[in-house]
Amino acid sequence: MASYDLVVIGTGPGGYVCAIRAAQLGMKVAVVEKNPTFGGTCLNVGCMPSKALLYASEMFEEAGHSFAKMGVVVNAPSLDLPAMMNFKQQGIDGNVKGVEFLLKKNKIDAIMGAGRVLGTGKVEVKSADGKTRVVETKNIVIATGSAVAQLKGITIDEKRIVSSTGALALDKVPGKLLVIGAGVIGLELGSVWKRLGAEVTVVEYLDRILPGMDGEVAKQFQRILEKQGFKFRLGNKVASVDSSGPTLKVLVEPAKGDGKAETLEADVVLVATGRVPYTAELGFKEAGLALDERGRIKTDGHFATSVKNVYAIGDVIVGPMLAHKAEDEGVAVAEILAGQAGHVNYGVIPGVVYTTPEVASLGQTEEELKEAGTAYNVGKFPFTANGRSKVNQTTDGFVKILADAKTDRVLGVHIIGREAGEMIHEAAVLMEFGGSAEDLARTCHAHPTRSEAVKEAAMAVAKRAIHM
Ligand code: NAI
Repeated sequence: MASYDLVVIGTGPGGYVCAIRAAQLGMKVAVVEKNPTFGGTCLNVGCMPSKALLYASEMFEEAGHSFAKMGVVVNAPSLDLPAMMNFKQQGIDGNVKGVEFLLKKNKIDAIMGAGRVLGTGKVEVKSADGKTRVVETKNIVIATGSAVAQLKGITIDEKRIVSSTGALALDKVPGKLLVIGAGVIGLELGSVWKRLGAEVTVVEYLDRILPGMDGEVAKQFQRILEKQGFKFRLGNKVASVDSSGPTLKVLVEPAKGDGKAETLEADVVLVATGRVPYTAELGFKEAGLALDERGRIKTDGHFATSVKNVYAIGDVIVGPMLAHKAEDEGVAVAEILAGQAGHVNYGVIPGVVYTTPEVASLGQTEEELKEAGTAYNVGKFPFTANGRSKVNQTTDGFVKILADAKTDRVLGVHIIGREAGEMIHEAAVLMEFGGSAEDLARTCHAHPTRSEAVKEAAMAVAKRAIHM
C-alpha cells in the first residue's frame, strides 16, 4: 500500500500549489524539499526578493529625484543597504512562513531532503545528514524548477561575478556593474543597482533587448532605460572575465563577424543569460525519465513523463520559465490526477518585467502575427494622453492592442508603463473569453485611472480613440 496519493518534489510556486490543490481534491499528499525553506527560487532567491529590492530602490530613487517637483521637500536620501537587505529578508521570511502555514493547513507532509525518482511509485529522499528513506506513493509530480545557466569560461563566485542570487545580496553598491544578458533578470537587477548608484552597462548577444517581447515595445523600453542612464552594448558577447586584479576586466567581442574586441572594467559582473532545467538530483536516467534536446523533462502535453504515474511541471518542462505558468500547471496536473479536466491555456500567460516603467506582455507579438500571416489591426494609446498619468507626471510608455483584422478578436496586448503588470490582467480575462477589441472598448473604465489607456487602445483599434 502506497503511503501517499501524491508526492511532489520541489516546493516552488509550481510544487506547493500543486500539493495544495491535490489536498483540496482529497488526496493524501507529501512534498519533498531539499532547501531548508519552502518556496523554491521564486520565494527565496528570485521573484520575491527582487521585487522587494525593486520597490525599495524605487522609493530611494523617487525620494531623491521626484519628491521635490511635487513640493515634497526632504533631505537628499542616503542609503542604508543592510537595512534594505533586511527589508528584503523580512519579505522572504513572511512568504516562506506563509507557504509553511498553507502546507500545514492542508495536512500536507513535508519531507526535507533531495528527492530522487526510483521509478513508478517510489521516491528516495536524502536528507542533509546523508540519511536516505524511500517514500511510496501512487503518483509523483516533479517540480524541481531551474538553475542559473553558466557561461563558458566564466566562473560565478557570487561575490564579484554573480548570478541573480549574488546580485540580490551584494554588500555594497558596485561602482560599475556589467550585466551579461538584456533579459528580464538583467534589466530588473540592473535597475535595482542603477537606482542605488551603480553605473550599469548591459552586454547583449542579440541586436535587441528582451528577446521574445514585441519589437516596438522593446525598442521604446530601451530608449527609456537609456534615458535613465543604462548603457547597452547590443550585438556583443563577453568572451572572458579576468578577476586577478582589484577591478574585473571584461573582454567584450562582437557577437558575429570579427569586429574589434574591447576590454571594459567592472566591479561586479552579473551573469543573466538564462536558466536551465534543474534535474541534477532526480536520477532521471536510472528512473528512465526521457529528456528533450534542451535537458527538459519530456511530457505528453498533459504533464505525464515517460515513466508511468510520474508527472512534471514548471521550469523543468517546456514553456516559459515563469512562476505563474508553473502554478497553473500545478493546479492542472492535480485536477488531472483527480479525474478532472485540468488544463492550461498557454496562449494567455502574461509576462511582466518589474522595472520602472513596467513592461507587460500577453498573447502574440506583431512579429509573431506577421510570421503566421495573420491579418491584424493595431490600436495604440500613449500614457502622455492619459489624464491620470499626466497629473502624476508619469507618462512614459503606451498600450498596444493587436486584434484580428476580420473578427476583431484580441490576439495580443503589450504595455509599457507604471503598473503595466497589474493592468495586463483585464486583457488576460478578455482573451480567456475570446473577447474582441470592441468588447474592451465598450467596457466602462473608472476615471481617472491608468487603465483607461487600455480602453483607449482598444478604441484605437477601430480608429476611434477619444483622447488622441
Ligand atoms: P532571459 O532568457 O530572459 O534573457 C537572457 C538574455 O541573455 C537574452 O537576451 C539572451 O539573448 C542573452 N544572452 C544569452 N547568452 C548571451 C551571451 N553569451 N552574451 C550576451 N548575452 C547573452 O534570461 P534571464 O534574464 O537570465 O532570466 C531567466 C529566466 O527567469 C527567464 O526565463 C525569465 O523569464 C525568468 N525571470 C522572470 C522574471 C519575471 O517574470 N519578471 C524575473 C526574472 C527572471
